[in-house]
Amino acid sequence: MTYDLVVIGTGPGGYVCAIRAAQLGLKVAVIEKRKTFGGTCLNIGCIPSKAILYASDKFAEAEHELAAFGVLVNPPKLDLAAFMKHKDETVAANVNGVAFLFKKNKIDTFTGTGAIKTAQLVDVTAEDGTHTEVETKAIVIATGSDAAPLPGTEIDEKLIVTSTGALALDKVPGKLLIIGAGVIGLELGSVWKRLGAEVTVVEYLDRILPGMDAEVSKSFQRILEKQGFTFKLAHKVSKVTRTKSGASVTIEPAAGGEAATLEADIVLVAIGRRPFTQGLGLEALGVAMERGRVVTDAHFKTNVPGIYAIGDVIAGPMLAHKAEDEGIAVAEILAGQHGHVNYGAIPSVVYTMPEIASVGATEEDLKAQGIAYRVGKFPFTANGRARAMRQTEGFVKILADTASDRVLGVHILGATAGELIAEAVVLMEFGGSAEDLARTCHAHPTLSEAVREAALATDKRPIHM
Ligand code: FAD
Ligand code: NAI
Repeated sequence: MTYDLVVIGTGPGGYVCAIRAAQLGLKVAVIEKRKTFGGTCLNIGCIPSKAILYASDKFAEAEHELAAFGVLVNPPKLDLAAFMKHKDETVAANVNGVAFLFKKNKIDTFTGTGAIKTAQLVDVTAEDGTHTEVETKAIVIATGSDAAPLPGTEIDEKLIVTSTGALALDKVPGKLLIIGAGVIGLELGSVWKRLGAEVTVVEYLDRILPGMDAEVSKSFQRILEKQGFTFKLAHKVSKVTRTKSGASVTIEPAAGGEAATLEADIVLVAIGRRPFTQGLGLEALGVAMERGRVVTDAHFKTNVPGIYAIGDVIAGPMLAHKAEDEGIAVAEILAGQHGHVNYGAIPSVVYTMPEIASVGATEEDLKAQGIAYRVGKFPFTANGRARAMRQTEGFVKILADTASDRVLGVHILGATAGELIAEAVVLMEFGGSAEDLARTCHAHPTLSEAVREAALATDKRPIHM
């Protein structure tokens, strides 16, 4: 039989694309080389990391915070096996959920590695080496990404690990050295810090979380230092050596200068991710690539007719919900509709404590673009609910266009920021203004009132400050 669509890869991009295409009446097959569906995100990314971030936060709460509420549980004890079981159960429920959705939507599944022979034919190599050929009218490449390697450093996922190994350590390391102060370094560093590790983060640039609003990342760095993180900013790692007891890491100031050596029990390499296209046969087909990413137009088409691409393998932020939205859009386009992704309204969340969430432009972006803007800021110390929860760290910051009052960016550092950002995303999708937000009734007492207050603050009229 000939499928209308074959999707290679079942991460958030691929599986969502397949489901949406099936909903629209297309006959769809997916090809996945892993044993389970869901890609990086569900198996070794978003879902397991959030499971242990949540669990480790409970531990930290029991250790440091509950006593202030009059709840005495000290000292909490860690059962790491049960902690990891929670993670494994969470992953299993999610990947099984995708298998169920494939069945429900009558999507055929092929387990094996897909290689594109022509724009109408994909070869699937199963683990036992057998081949199956799948004919199709269209192909969507959704093969995602993997961890960027540190040149000269061999990853064994035991001593020198990527996020995959850091999600499954069999004991709490005494000293965890993290290379890269990006999202993975700070999220997984938080997990092991809360469980008792001494965490040092070496970052090449002179700030953490590059790309985030600088004021937010500066405040966040102070909070993490209070939690016990040590940062070596503006330093590069020049060598990682295995020693009898662990690893020895040589670092040098990025601007040049004297090298220093740090000892570690575990080294986490978290210096970014790179698109994964190995073995797909793209070179032979002449599919255009740029810096490792598949080049697509605004309709996710590659330069080879019939071949499309979405998710981490193409340009843009490497985020699950960005991949999902592209999956929906390309499925709709293939079904003759007008799928579209608004890249200006894709939120980004760091699931630490407190969380960081942002959408749209940072102050640095607006300055660089020469756009005049007003800033409205409101601290959680002035929010009643935050005080009741003893979660007063952080603030909401809204950037609004001076001339039109349209909201151009929202940045939140605070508890549940990842949930609070949703109303800002909706507002920005509708081209809303700070005044729209300021005039919207927010339930009391909620953390979301801080978002409204920040909108009022863009016009210098917050009530509680
Ligand atoms: P992937 O999820 O990478 O899926 C690609 C799939 O394709 C894989 O299953 C792979 O096995 C399969 N594949 C590859 N080549 C072939 C082939 N030739 N044949 C068959 N199958 C193939 N993003 C967020 O938005 N929020 C988060 O909280 C978050 N947390 C993360 C935490 C960690 C530790 C990591 C590593 C990433 C995290 N991300 C998060 C990023 C997120 O996981 C990715 O952006 C997302 O998974 C990309 O989706 P995708 O569909 O493009 O690719
Ligand atoms: P990242 O790009 O977020 O951060 C990597 C950091 O490493 C940067 O600060 C960079 O300057 C630094 N760096 C690069 N080379 C270095 C070197 N040689 N020495 C020292 N520092 C170096 O990448 P990360 O943390 O690996 O995450 C990859 C991607 O996965 C993220 O960008 C994001 O797209 C996704 N992700 C998203 C999450 C979320 O949405 N909550 C959670 C985890 C990952």
